[in-house]
Amino acid sequence: MKIENYIRDIQDFPKEGILFKDITPLLNDPIARTACLKILVNSLKNQKIDKVVGAESRGFFFGMLLAQELNAGFIPVRKPNKLPYETISASYELEYGSDSLEIHTDAIQKGDKVLVHDDVLATGGTAKAVCELVEKLGGEIVQCNFLMELTFLNGRDKIMKHPIFSVLSY
Ligand code: PRP
Ligand code: MG
Repeated sequence: MKIENYIRDIQDFPKEGILFKDITPLLNDPIARTACLKILVNSLKNQKIDKVVGAESRGFFFGMLLAQELNAGFIPVRKPNKLPYETISASYELEYGSDSLEIHTDAIQKGDKVLVHDDVLATGGTAKAVCELVEKLGGEIVQCNFLMELTFLNGRDKIMKHPIFSVLSY
């Protein structure tokens, strides 16, 4: 099973010059999806996970599958003003300007073992903001994992203090 065969390249999306990695073929194939989930779970080597934190929106897909498989809670980190209860936020830099992400203040208890998940590690801004939110609430990050990592953007450097695992690297 080659997971990379289920990631489709889309040239010039969302803008000219960008090669977009489309995971919808992977989501649409139960056998490939299960194989990918198994790779992510095996990378944890039986470490206990209390909460899986997924970044909106593409981090929700495998984030929820991981939480189910690991018998852990699932915590959505969302774009601003989407979460209804009390939140804290962390901002991150974009190519032009900045954006922020939010988490519910009661989502994580101090000392919880946390797995941070997103589909792609690119510049690392998103993952860094998610890690900041988890740590502000007292969570202990066991691993940050991704379906794929765009190594040429050096996103790893921003979350280096945590173990990182990616199914695929480009
Ligand atoms: C994409 C991707 C990651 C993030 C990676 O999300 O799903 O979350 O960018 O980029 P970075 O490492 O440079 O931060 P996007 O913000 O496009 O939103 P989406 O998941 O809702 O599509
Ligand atoms: Mg995303």
